[in-house]
Amino acid sequence: MDTVSMDQRVSMRSRNELKLGLFGANCSSGRAVTLVDERWSGNWADCKALAQLADKVGLEFMLPVGRWKGYGGDTDYQGSTYETITWAAGLAAATENITCFGTVHAPMFNPIMAAKNIVTADHIGQGRFGLNIVCGWNEGEFDMFGMQQRDHDNRYAYAAEWIEVIQKAWGPDDDWSYDGKYLQHKKVRSKPKPWGGSRPVIMNAGASPNGRAFALKNCDAFFTTPSRVSDDQTREKVLAIKDEAASYGREIDIYTVGVVTCRPTMKEAQDYFHYASVEKCDWNAVRDILAIKNISPETVGQKAYDEHRIGYASSGMGGTTIIGDPDHVANTLIGWSKAGLRGVGMSFVNYLDELPFFAQEVLPRLEKAGVRVAVQ
Ligand SMILES: Cc1cc2nc3c(=O)[nH]c(=O)nc-3n(C[C@H](O)[C@H](O)[C@H](O)COP(=O)(O)O)c2cc1C
Repeated sequence: MDTVSMDQRVSMRSRNELKLGLFGANCSSGRAVTLVDERWSGNWADCKALAQLADKVGLEFMLPVGRWKGYGGDTDYQGSTYETITWAAGLAAATENITCFGTVHAPMFNPIMAAKNIVTADHIGQGRFGLNIVCGWNEGEFDMFGMQQRDHDNRYAYAAEWIEVIQKAWGPDDDWSYDGKYLQHKKVRSKPKPWGGSRPVIMNAGASPNGRAFALKNCDAFFTTPSRVSDDQTREKVLAIKDEAASYGREIDIYTVGVVTCRPTMKEAQDYFHYASVEKCDWNAVRDILAIKNISPETVGQKAYDEHRIGYASSGMGGTTIIGDPDHVANTLIGWSKAGLRGVGMSFVNYLDELPFFAQEVLPRLEKAGVRVAVQ
């Protein structure tokens, strides 16, 4: 068996200073709440072709959204979604270098089962599986599973036990038992172990203080948002998170989410963005997404509600929009990289249509700036 070091896993097997991946392609509509005909299908043929193209142009990762129930609206936004460990396993079999993540809901997967699912996908990809742990966002999804969402304290305390159990299952011991507050397991055997003598890279995107502390203590990578004001402020934010990780004796890479519209000119990019995300927004889906979060004109007032609506429509439900020509898109990414962000999970309205132009125009600019190297 080939050896795969933890460094290789965390660096996602590339020397690139700035890691790039695609976020959300396992869902219908991807991360764009839009009615446009070219919106992302999320079907298998498109996912596979996309992962193969991303692999070919040297992107580092495919990161799915863990979603169980669509958001309704006219398009049933994210209504059709692939389960993410099986999705990653299939993509890993069809690609060569790219790391394929599963976005796994800790409360919904028995950890012994998850450990095994993950090892299976990891062997298929010969050490290219990554684990993005989520604790759950939407109550409706828990109802569907016949479960109750825990409060924040318990949610992340549970997740800490969950990942501890998984790590034990991946570790060398046999016939071990675990007696935690939430999880109990007896005489566990779990073979094979992850590929190549190391474990999958682990990510998390908790935003609450508990979520963040969980990530810093247990994960290799953490998601945050860059400052909208300046790269200097982003640098301060990144350093503060790294310092906090250091206080737990850990090093962590900081990633972010970019919602990219890249066209030959600024005007074309802005026009397309306005067309897809405002004129042709699936406003009924935005309304339903906000309702889940108890955001309505009645609860927050019309002015704040309108701001929320625009925010959700344009940023693909979280993430920073990057709208412009190749120079603008490249410069934004270079600025983030220089500010200390390690990587960006990108989404496009139609990933497969838009990635070739991005690869052709933006990647060489990133190479010229020294934050990435050309694919050999
Ligand atoms: C980049 C990113 C990706 C996320 N992906 C998912 C996901 O796929 N499924 C999910 O249920 N939650 C997802 N979340 C939600 C987070 O896991 C987390 O619950 C959220 O940021 C709120 O933080 P908290 O749990 O600490 O309150 C994501 C958040 C971010 C920022």
